[in-house]
Amino acid sequence: ATRCLAVDPGQPETAPVREAGAVLRRGGLVAFPTETVYGLGANALDAQAVANIFRAKGRPADNPLIVHMDSFAALGKYILEMPAVVSALAEKFWPGPLTLVLRGNRSFPPVVTGGLSTVAVRVPAHPVALALLREAGVPVAAPSANASGRPSPTTASHVLEDLAGRIDLVLDGGPAGLGLESTVLDLTGQCPVILRPGGITRPDLEAVLGPVELDPSVNGAPAGDRPRSPGMKYKHYAPRAPLVLFEGDSSGQVAAAIYAEAQRLEAGGKRVGILACSETAPLYRGFDVVVTGRCSDSGSIAASLYDSLRRFDRLDVDIILAEGVAPRGLGLAVMNRLRRAAGDRIVRI
Ligand code: TXA
Ligand code: MG
Repeated sequence: ATRCLAVDPGQPETAPVREAGAVLRRGGLVAFPTETVYGLGANALDAQAVANIFRAKGRPADNPLIVHMDSFAALGKYILEMPAVVSALAEKFWPGPLTLVLRGNRSFPPVVTGGLSTVAVRVPAHPVALALLREAGVPVAAPSANASGRPSPTTASHVLEDLAGRIDLVLDGGPAGLGLESTVLDLTGQCPVILRPGGITRPDLEAVLGPVELDPSVNGAPAGDRPRSPGMKYKHYAPRAPLVLFEGDSSGQVAAAIYAEAQRLEAGGKRVGILACSETAPLYRGFDVVVTGRCSDSGSIAASLYDSLRRFDRLDVDIILAEGVAPRGLGLAVMNRLRRAAGDRIVRI
């Protein structure tokens, strides 16, 4: 059975952190809070332990993992070359929600990197994550602690919903911070490329690096067979019911289109869920509305997006109609996740 230990998110107690560190060192799986989402950790130097992450999540073997470390200083041991910009990025954004893809020196078993010559690394900012990494004394490979394809977990109960009985331990430190995963930045080419938008925005990065490219998959272009970030070719972040995303510049027109479609579907006998922000929610009276933050504040939407998607599972709706948000700042990461959840069901107004 999976054990769950409560831990103070601000000042983690020694006992649960020690216990979790010991589980990691002996090859077990521990879910823990980070400042983005909950991660499912294993000792990154232990191929068998890492293989068990893939088994617990049902994750495709060619989708590599992010290795978490307790400091920038720990990184040098595992990479082939340190591009000059890394220390500037680390200085500014670590600990924090930025993952760097660098050339590895093959210290990690291929199961961590999906056999790639590169490795994704980050230093998380959450006090529980940092305490656990220090206690474990090894780098920790950790994808998000959800079943593969499901919305990422932002609470311990989301983790248990997906993985109870499949992992050894959950450290329950309350809700994760940001609510969306880290930004993944590839530094192995000529120009830095954002492979996945997240907590650190493109303007944040450009202030340090100059021009930064966006991988075409970020805005929903088909990733093809060999995308730069292998995770981008899989359907992701999906609630159980199909989700239709409505995008447009005018929130009034988007709401009108959603309302009309909801009425049509309901007349056809479908139970309709609507994902709306607090400003527009009153327009959809009569339907199962889940409010995900304020339209005017993409941070509030990021924080509750995954929990909102999981709520529709409990409401048992047949179909979800979702409002898009402006793809600026954190809104770009929100829209990336919504587009991935929608697949090809996108309506442009
Ligand atoms: O915020 C986060 O990043 C969370 C917390 C737990 O740290 N972790 C997370 O991991 O979101 P995961 O496994 O769900 O997503 C890792 C992403 C995937 O899209 C994967 O394809 C990409 O990082 N990735 C990992 N290694 C890579 C590499 N060597 N090259 C390109 N992309 C890589
Ligand atoms: Mg994930």
